[in-house]
Amino acid sequence: MGRNGQILRISVIGTGYLGLTHAVCMADLGHEVLAIDVDAEKIAKAARGETPFFEPGLEPLLRKNLDAGRLRFTDSFAEIGEFGDVHFICVGTPQAKDGSGNADLSYVFSAADALAPHLTRATLVVAKSTVPVGTSREIIARLHTAPAGEQVDYAFNPEFLREGYAVQDSLTPDRIVFGVTSDTADELMRAVYAIPLASGIPGLTMDLETAELVKVAANSFLATKISFINVMAEMCEASGADVIKLADAIGIDERIGRKFLSPGLGFGGGCLPKDIRAFRATAEDKGVTSLVNLLTTVDTVNLGRRDRVITLAREALGGNFAGKRVAVLGAAFKPNSDDIRDSPSLAISGRLADEGAIVAVHDPVAMTNAARVRPDLRYADSVHDAAERADLVLHLTEWTDYRTIDPDVLRSIVSSPVLIDGRCTLDAAAWRAAGWRVLVPGRPS
Ligand SMILES: NC(=O)c1ccc[n+]([C@@H]2O[C@H](COP(=O)([O-])OP(=O)(O)OC[C@H]3O[C@@H](n4cnc5c(N)ncnc54)[C@H](O)[C@@H]3O)[C@@H](O)[C@H]2O)c1
Repeated sequence: MGRNGQILRISVIGTGYLGLTHAVCMADLGHEVLAIDVDAEKIAKAARGETPFFEPGLEPLLRKNLDAGRLRFTDSFAEIGEFGDVHFICVGTPQAKDGSGNADLSYVFSAADALAPHLTRATLVVAKSTVPVGTSREIIARLHTAPAGEQVDYAFNPEFLREGYAVQDSLTPDRIVFGVTSDTADELMRAVYAIPLASGIPGLTMDLETAELVKVAANSFLATKISFINVMAEMCEASGADVIKLADAIGIDERIGRKFLSPGLGFGGGCLPKDIRAFRATAEDKGVTSLVNLLTTVDTVNLGRRDRVITLAREALGGNFAGKRVAVLGAAFKPNSDDIRDSPSLAISGRLADEGAIVAVHDPVAMTNAARVRPDLRYADSVHDAAERADLVLHLTEWTDYRTIDPDVLRSIVSSPVLIDGRCTLDAAAWRAAGWRVLVPGRPS
């Protein structure tokens, strides 16, 4: 509910990971919410109370707010335009397919173009999608073609949620950023988020360009931190040192912090990789060479981790993959998600299969999505099914379930007890004690 008990009519355009979570959480704060997507199947599913993707805690909250009558779905932009006091644009901004690294803004622009003709009164349109700096001004120009013209106000409100913790991050974020050009937009945004703001969560008001940069700067920092510790992993390997002990020791320092300092396979997913590439492309356009260089290095180091695990795997299998059985634990880009966009694990699985390995993949929730992208891999119902007669086991997504695998039992069904722990989270000592050869990038073997 808004400030002074104000219930707002909120529309959400795009019901993917970000948009559906946002729609559900807005309804849960007490607002009336109407959501739209161009994917009719997604809308139909959500309207039945089923989330079209795996996100812990989201489905019960979706059902609760559908039952309370606060949340509805539609396929009509006319209905959206008529309904909303505030319209959130939450559509995708994937990496363009032209190899430039730029963000593909066509979905954002077509959402604005589809909405504009139906805006006939003063209203606020808010972009939540991650966009390159300067994009908001282009969206505003499109919105001002609406019948309501310049009565259509605009805000940029970046989203920082983490998949796997999306509900918690949406309802109780660390901070809420309002990029605005008017006091009325700022006031309306503060009414939308009245409950989290009243609980003490900082709301930061700024100009549009700074708000756009805040989001990509945050992701670039996180990506840099991950690549930093992975460079240290390489140094540890070259020196016979232990990167986990190093990370623990430097991470205790409050100025550094232990989070996002986990070495291993690096980052993937639908955000960090494409966001740093788009930011790099923007930096190139603006001639900010230092940022281009930094982000190029971060990306190169990150992709190099996949090569490193493949090299270790090849060595472990005697120099070649042809006909070798490889069990891969994990397909999602990270645990607690079924998202396989730019998944390091799936990329490695695919490359091993391309080099002739017989790959069996297991993941608790991401196998359906993975099979859509790599139908040629075998998907196993259980860890045991994947590992049966395997010449090598690769641990590539750090689901907590995998920490409870009994290495003794698994040893009895594989052909050869060799484990590469690409995520550095299994108990290497316990696996070794059970007779496994364990290779962990960045740790002494
Ligand atoms: N997923 C995350 O964790 C996360 C976190 C923060 C920010 N973001 C940003 O949020 C945006 C959305 O990401 P996502 O992961 O939800 O993507 P997604 O692909 O899961 O969802 C995008 C949705 O938009 C819909 N869509 C496309 N064009 C449309 C249109 N014209 N009208 C209505 N719907 C349309 C698609 O059908 C899809 O359902 C991106 O900019 C992303 O960078 C995502």
